[in-house]
Amino acid sequence: MRVESSIPISFPFEIISANDRSALQPILNRMFKNSLASPFGGTPILGDEAGWGTEFFELHKSSIFMNLTESTQKSVLKSCSDANIEEAMFIEVAGMTFSSKMSLLAQNLNERELYCRFGADEAHHFRQLQMVLGELNLKKAYQSSFLKFLGNLIQTESRVPLILLIQVLLEGWGIHYYSTLSENTSYSEVKKIFNSIVADEASHHGSGIILFREALTNPNEEIRMAEAVGELLSMVRLGPAGILTHLYKANGGMTLNEISHFLDEVNFQEKINRDLEILKHLLTKAKAIRIIEKLERQGLFSIPSVRGCASLLSNLLGVS
Ligand SMILES: [Fe+2]
Ligand SMILES: [Fe+2]
Repeated sequence: MRVESSIPISFPFEIISANDRSALQPILNRMFKNSLASPFGGTPILGDEAGWGTEFFELHKSSIFMNLTESTQKSVLKSCSDANIEEAMFIEVAGMTFSSKMSLLAQNLNERELYCRFGADEAHHFRQLQMVLGELNLKKAYQSSFLKFLGNLIQTESRVPLILLIQVLLEGWGIHYYSTLSENTSYSEVKKIFNSIVADEASHHGSGIILFREALTNPNEEIRMAEAVGELLSMVRLGPAGILTHLYKANGGMTLNEISHFLDEVNFQEKINRDLEILKHLLTKAKAIRIIEKLERQGLFSIPSVRGCASLLSNLLGVS
């Protein structure tokens, strides 16, 4: 264990699962309703519809997608759209665990208050997203390498690396990502929800920048931070893996050449370049210069080749 606290921290998606149907639900529902300006009904806002259109996922540029039947296209869109909200919900669950742990590790009263409020925000965000999509299947977290990575970080890392990885990078990334989701949905209630989440995440991220800049790190933490950021960059460099997975299933499989062609069609290099620039900008804001230099030397900020990315994705999908 790397934690400075002797209190054991459960894997974020484990502890919630155990209490999912507890007798606390009615009280939690009431607390959530009381905190909203207007009451909400019990049915998810999106129902059977996708919250984002073909252009948002750039699927209109994919010849394989355009050749699918209309109903298959609709189900691919719905899967991609639900995956957006599901991932966001898991991140909020992880955020609740993160803030609880950080509250225990706080170095002064202000910091402890910050993380207690932070946790309340994440619980509220989770409920807001539940209004959009409905119940979350927690077992799905174990199928996502990103969520496993995130859960392990929260469970095992110490205070300063967590500030950098969660508050500076993931919360900062979340601001960009949630803003894009808000700008591109035609559902006004969904837009409102993402806008209010972004406003909270801005404080979470901003406090992370302040805390990280004044933090002292030891050489071991520096090594672990660079490794973890490197792992995150490697996942980003895979490009639209989630969208491709849904398309792959709907199409009944794809060859390596078809995957390469898909990546070309959707300009994946442009998107990856944009995402890598965002992460580099966030690290620069936190003055994590040594980490940037190390990762640059490893070539992790460079744009991967289409063929290289296609073969990594083929391996993940089990293309023979
Ligand atoms: Fe959140
Ligand atoms: Fe947050």
